[in-house]
Amino acid sequence: TPLNDLNSLRLPASAKRYAEIHSAEQLLKLVRRGDLDGQRVVVLGGGSNVVLRGNLEAFVLHIRIPGRALVSELDDAWIVRAGAGENWHEFVRFTLEHGWPGLENLSLIPGTVGAAPIQNIGAYGVELADRFFALEAVDLRSGQIVSLDRETCQFAYRDSLFKQQAAGRFIITAVSFRLPKQWHAVTAYADVANELKALGLSEPTPTQLSDAVIGIRSRKLPDPAVLPNAGSFFKNPVVSAERFAALAEAWPKLPYHPQADGSVKLAAGWLIEQAGWRGRSLGRAAMYEKQALVLVNLGGATGEDVLRLADSVSAAVQEKFGVALEQEPVLL
Ligand code: EPU
Repeated sequence: TPLNDLNSLRLPASAKRYAEIHSAEQLLKLVRRGDLDGQRVVVLGGGSNVVLRGNLEAFVLHIRIPGRALVSELDDAWIVRAGAGENWHEFVRFTLEHGWPGLENLSLIPGTVGAAPIQNIGAYGVELADRFFALEAVDLRSGQIVSLDRETCQFAYRDSLFKQQAAGRFIITAVSFRLPKQWHAVTAYADVANELKALGLSEPTPTQLSDAVIGIRSRKLPDPAVLPNAGSFFKNPVVSAERFAALAEAWPKLPYHPQADGSVKLAAGWLIEQAGWRGRSLGRAAMYEKQALVLVNLGGATGEDVLRLADSVSAAVQEKFGVALEQEPVLL
C-alpha cells in the first residue's frame, strides 16, 4: 500500500501490510486475534511528524478513530474527549465553538489528536501537557485497554513516555482534556503580543486568540498542502547555564529561553540561519526561507534526500556553535 499521500513531507513509501483503524474495538480484536504478532507495527496518524524512507517492512495501522464530546462538566472545568483519529486543529476549533477555551494557542498545528501527546505538541506558550487530562490506549503487551493519567505520560519538552520507555507499546485511541472555566489569554510570547497589538485586541476572546495564532502561523510556516513539510525538523536544543554563558558572549544576539531548572533553551532556527542554511537546498529538500527550522520538500525528494540535508545542517550548526541538534520527526 502506498503511503505517499499519508505523510505530510510527501516522501515516497509503502507498507507491506496496511489497515485503517476506525474504533478501539476493531484494534483490540486485531491485537487479541494475534494479527500483529511477530510483526513490526507502525502507527500512523496525520503523518505530519514522520520521515519515511521507502518500503516499510511493517504492519502500518492508520488510526482514523472519530468522536468528539464533552464527557463531564466539573465545578471548575470541562473535560472534553476526542478520538485519536480526529484532526487536531478541527478539534481545537470545535472546543472553541462550544465555549470550552484553553487550546487556542495550539491552533493550526497539523496532525491528529492521537499523535499530539506523543511529542507533547506545544506552541506560543502552551503545551498539550498543560491541558491534558488522560488518554486511552491499547496496550500491545497485555492486550488490554488502559487509561493513562498526566503523571504517567511523563510529558516534557517535545517528549513523553511514548517516545521513551514505552515506545511502541501503546496505541492511543482517545485523548481527554481538562479545560478550566477560569480562562485567561496566554499572550506572553512576543509573536502573539505583537499580533494582538496589530489587531487592536487588548483583551482577546479565545476565538480571537485562535485567529491571531492562525495568522502568525500562516505567515511564518509553510502549508503542508502547498509545500510539503513536517513542521520544526529539530528540537530547540537545551544547554547548561555555563555553556550558554560562553555562547552568549561569542554571539550576543543569540535568542534564548531560560528553563526552570537553570538550563537554557536556544532557538534552533536562529542557529541554522546563522550557519547559512536558511532557504538553502540540497537535492530536492530545503530549509524553508521564512523559518529555517522547517525542512521542506521542493517536489520529488526522498527520505534519503531529507536525511542528507538534515545531516548537513546539524553538522554546520555543530561546527559553528558546538551545539548538537536532535531531529524531531520520527524516522521510519
Ligand atoms: N529564528 C531565526 N531564524 C529562523 C527561525 C527562527 O532567527 O529562520 C529565531 C526567531 O527570530 C526567534 C527564535 O528563532 O527569535 C524562535 O523562533 P520562533 O518563534 O519561530 O519559534 P521556534 O523556536 O523556531 C518553536 C516550536 C514551533 C512553535 C513555535 C511557537 C520547536 C521545535 N518548535 O519554534 O513548533 O510553533 O516555537 O511556539 O519547539 C513544530 O513543532 O512543528 C512547530 C512549528
